Amino acid sequence: MKITRNIKIVALKGLLIISCLFGTTTLSAQTVWLDELDLSTATQGYGIPMKNKSIDGKTLTIAGKTFERGFGSHSESSLTIELNGKATEFIAQVGIDDEVAGQKPAAEFVVYGDGEKLWSSGVMRLGDAARPCNVKLGGLRKLELVVTDGGNGNYYDHVDWVDARFTTIGVTTFKTFNPVASVSYILTPKPSAEPRITGAKVFGVRPGSPFQYLVTATGDRPMTFYALGLPKGLNINAKTGIITGQLSKVRTYIVTLKAKNAKGTAERKFRIECGDRIALTPPMGWNSWNCFANEVSADKVKRAVNAMVKSGLINHGWTYINIDDFWENHRDSKDQTLRGKLRDEVGNIIPNSRFSDMKALADYVHGQGLKIGLYSSPGPWTCGGSAGSYGYEKKDAESYAKWGFDYLKYDWCSYGNVIDSLPDNDPYKVSSLSYNGGNELNTAMKPFKVMGKFLRQQPRDIVFSVCQYGMSDVWKWGDSVNGNCWRTTNDITDTWTSVKNIILDQDKSAPYAKPGNWNDPDMLVIGTVGWGNPHPSKLKPDEQYLHVSLWSLFSAPLLIGCDMEKLDDFTLNLLTNDEVIEINQDPLGKQATCVHTIGDLRIYVKELEDGSRAIGFCNFGLETVDLAYKDFDKLGLKGQFVVRDLWRQKDISNVNTQTGQLALKVPVHGVLLYKFSSKK
Ligand code: GLA
Repeated sequence: MKITRNIKIVALKGLLIISCLFGTTTLSAQTVWLDELDLSTATQGYGIPMKNKSIDGKTLTIAGKTFERGFGSHSESSLTIELNGKATEFIAQVGIDDEVAGQKPAAEFVVYGDGEKLWSSGVMRLGDAARPCNVKLGGLRKLELVVTDGGNGNYYDHVDWVDARFTTIGVTTFKTFNPVASVSYILTPKPSAEPRITGAKVFGVRPGSPFQYLVTATGDRPMTFYALGLPKGLNINAKTGIITGQLSKVRTYIVTLKAKNAKGTAERKFRIECGDRIALTPPMGWNSWNCFANEVSADKVKRAVNAMVKSGLINHGWTYINIDDFWENHRDSKDQTLRGKLRDEVGNIIPNSRFSDMKALADYVHGQGLKIGLYSSPGPWTCGGSAGSYGYEKKDAESYAKWGFDYLKYDWCSYGNVIDSLPDNDPYKVSSLSYNGGNELNTAMKPFKVMGKFLRQQPRDIVFSVCQYGMSDVWKWGDSVNGNCWRTTNDITDTWTSVKNIILDQDKSAPYAKPGNWNDPDMLVIGTVGWGNPHPSKLKPDEQYLHVSLWSLFSAPLLIGCDMEKLDDFTLNLLTNDEVIEINQDPLGKQATCVHTIGDLRIYVKELEDGSRAIGFCNFGLETVDLAYKDFDKLGLKGQFVVRDLWRQKDISNVNTQTGQLALKVPVHGVLLYKFSSKK
């Protein structure tokens, strides 16, 4: 029975009195303000939840009107409140805070009660007068205050719930809570003492290029490495496992890799494809940006290399050490270590004083069996204002090769200004910066075509990572400009909003992923991240499992973005699960897509080379998913299957898809990552 039916409201001098008749008991009504509750449990797209202030810490202001009380947040935002039937109504006003003047935010405020949508503001924009929200709560147990991004991304969505309060029955406060669990738990089993060969099963190299591949394995050290059937021109160092040399013929070679220690021997087939294509599995490694941003230095890079080795990550196939922005000199930084001549007399780029010897740094990285990458922009300046490659593309490609680099991330940044400055009749001139077709396509492709060509002319293989945030459907033409991977999204941040929205946007580019071409949903935001302001990732443990699982299912480049010297056990558990990594590195190179949804449960399927399927049951909702799954035909499964839990590395069930069912219990914002293999 709903409590409201028994309520009579009487207003008395600002205090609400409700006479509630429960048999003979009379309870008085009270006002509980939203800002009196613990707002810290809210999740939001940026910043921290604010009490009686906007997200920037200013007076709450909507369309010129100020408010003393309220909750300042940022979309996408969600606050859950336990009412337990003790509130009769929620009253508030909502709107976008004036502090983002000049921007184009949009957001929608929504109130859910026990999972049902009770009220919505409609999409609101900057300057809209505060909209009143008045919701009858009846006997509701749980209320959720949500703000969506209004359909245009969450940039500058500074959102305010003002004068927000509850009318309550017999209580003076409510508990807020976050339905996403905070306690971390480790699923990846420790590797055994016996050798187990890890890493990619296929490797591409161009004829004539220097060959370097590290055979990786877990297990006790010392370990001896062998590569049986290695073609002429290649040698393996038995102690380190590094294969080096050069191949001249376009051909496929099948080699048997062996790793031996006191406990036993492991063996695995390895395919070397000498030909045109490289990066036959998604690049795996580390990038400096998400952790050091403009504070990167050769010293920090070396320390990341050492940590990669010491932590044992190197034994799981992690390979690239990529320097992002800020190795070049800067146009106007106050930091003197970034200032100096941008180029020498003949136009060669001069690294800044933090990178005194690029060749020595590359040699150091190669000496460990790892590979090294760097970053530039086709515009005159990088996104951070360092020297870009515009007009010097050939020279730069030559420098990278001379220093011994293996990877280039090439970031659009100021190239937009180059286009703007072209004369109106220039064929590459476009009227907007959206680059979504027609002549705009030439414009979008041009700078990458130029650099792609020069990289190909170098006497070493350099993985080409195109970074332009997915403009002009880059996945359709990235291969034609010699791109090996391309960003499909704007920059990731360590919030659920960011990660979730990136995930929901990936299916359209999936058909274009293949060996040598990877869609890049940006780097991993786990561990200690912070773009120069280090903090533990704000993603909850289950969200991190989901993030790593989906990046594996997506065949995405796996680039660790955290401080490698601060790797905790939980983060290491996410990065050292060889069965999960194997899904990412599967030689077939297919990208998972979402093939079935049940409410907030999204099921992603990735076909694997051996005929099995990796399947991620992903819960995007705020309730645990608990169901018996039967729709195997929707997942392309027919017959008898062994189901293996990849995080736990354990077979969990046998399923007959005609008659059987699979019990699924998926935590809020969590995942079950299973492999379905045909039963022999
Ligand atoms: C852009 C890119 C980031 C990073 C920075 C460097 O924002 O998307 O990944 O490279 O530039 O300035």
